[in-house]
Amino acid sequence: MTTPPTDSISRRQFLATAATTLGAAATLGVAPWLVAEAQTADTPRTTADKPTSALRRRLGPFEVFPIGLGVQWHPGHNSQAVADLYSSSTSRQEGIALIRRAVELGVTLFDTAEVYGPFLSEELLGEALQGGLRDRVVVSTKFGFDIDPVTGQRRGNLNSRPEHIRQVVEAQLRRLRTDRIDLLYQHRVDPNVPIEDVAGTIKELVQQGKVLHYGLSEPGPQTIRRAYKEYPVAVIENEYSMLYRGPETQILPLCEELGIGFVPWSPLGMGFLTGTISATSRFEKQDFRASVPRFAPDTLPANMALVELVKTWATRKHITPAQLALAWLTAQKPWIVPIPGTTNMAHLEENVAAASITFSASELKELNAAIAAIPIQGARLPPAVLSATGVEAAPKQ
Ligand SMILES: NC(=O)c1ccc[n+]([C@@H]2O[C@H](COP(=O)([O-])OP(=O)(O)OC[C@H]3O[C@@H](n4cnc5c(N)ncnc54)[C@H](OP(=O)(O)O)[C@@H]3O)[C@@H](O)[C@H]2O)c1
Repeated sequence: MTTPPTDSISRRQFLATAATTLGAAATLGVAPWLVAEAQTADTPRTTADKPTSALRRRLGPFEVFPIGLGVQWHPGHNSQAVADLYSSSTSRQEGIALIRRAVELGVTLFDTAEVYGPFLSEELLGEALQGGLRDRVVVSTKFGFDIDPVTGQRRGNLNSRPEHIRQVVEAQLRRLRTDRIDLLYQHRVDPNVPIEDVAGTIKELVQQGKVLHYGLSEPGPQTIRRAYKEYPVAVIENEYSMLYRGPETQILPLCEELGIGFVPWSPLGMGFLTGTISATSRFEKQDFRASVPRFAPDTLPANMALVELVKTWATRKHITPAQLALAWLTAQKPWIVPIPGTTNMAHLEENVAAASITFSASELKELNAAIAAIPIQGARLPPAVLSATGVEAAPKQ
């Protein structure tokens, strides 16, 4: 992980210089963190014989544990309860304990967003990281929806206007109880705001020391290139799993070309790849999967072929289906860091243990071919949510 000085004046000077250097490197089309790495690469990195917590991988400018944690929680059925988007819930205190346990297990990448709650997930993450944990981890969060800063009500759809980004970041720093956001994502491309304006605003926030790096979630490929030219994009966060391999065609090659890290969201296929869903599963109305076409009664039976494949391979490798799904992702590229979500301590421990699972080249070839032979029926998201993905930002006039 790139660690700037901790006292605030020298840290701000350091960041202002770093921001200028990053901007200059972008015009050369080279990720500055790759240049730095090439200059210092005298000791080869190996993961063999290391305890799980010592495993590390490159994610753009960061060096993190291979498995992160998604903190996407919403208000639950009472004031002390928190719920995920699906059917799981826990208490605020258990949620905080789960985040702290994740740090103890070696997890260093935490993913949240303004809109998760709204505000609640950032508040819980901020509280959980008190007591010295904050400086040990990479805190990533997102802006981009039009949310009333006082009531938390969604006022409209998207809002990436520069003044709005600045306001949101101030509130995020307070909720996260920190003086800097390590990785700030635009949650969805705002088609009305040129991405150069977004990247330029973030560059200013970097110069002010409030943000260290930035990323984009579900952007169109041209928007990535344009943003990168303005100021180097550190990480792309898109849906990617054995259930949805869309990023393989354009986005992962682009990340590889530019030295951008990649964080797959819903790495367990919204729980589908954990083997806990059957052909006859039906989801309650409040469970997001109830509105997702690939989990509908008419598509689920066909899609279960993938779950059967996952279970067969998990048995073959003496691991669980969730571990297979996570290890498959980390095996695709050495700069991929999945962020499974969970409300359950045993699931957290199981997911973290996937960090040390590897595949031989022939295993990976065989498994990838078997996955490719199973066509997935039904769209990955409901139409309105899907239409906000892969969007290109307005051109800069
Ligand atoms: N950028 C974006 O637009 C975007 C969109 C969606 C999500 N995200 C991020 O990605 C993170 C993860 O995505 P996600 O939560 O949608 O999906 P996911 O990680 O693919 O799946 C989460 C589901 O799997 C279950 N689970 C987790 N570990 C398990 C295990 N070992 N065994 C059995 N079940 C297990 C969880 O239930 P339990 O609680 O019972 O374990 C939960 O129902 C989110 O937390 C969020 O940070 C980002």
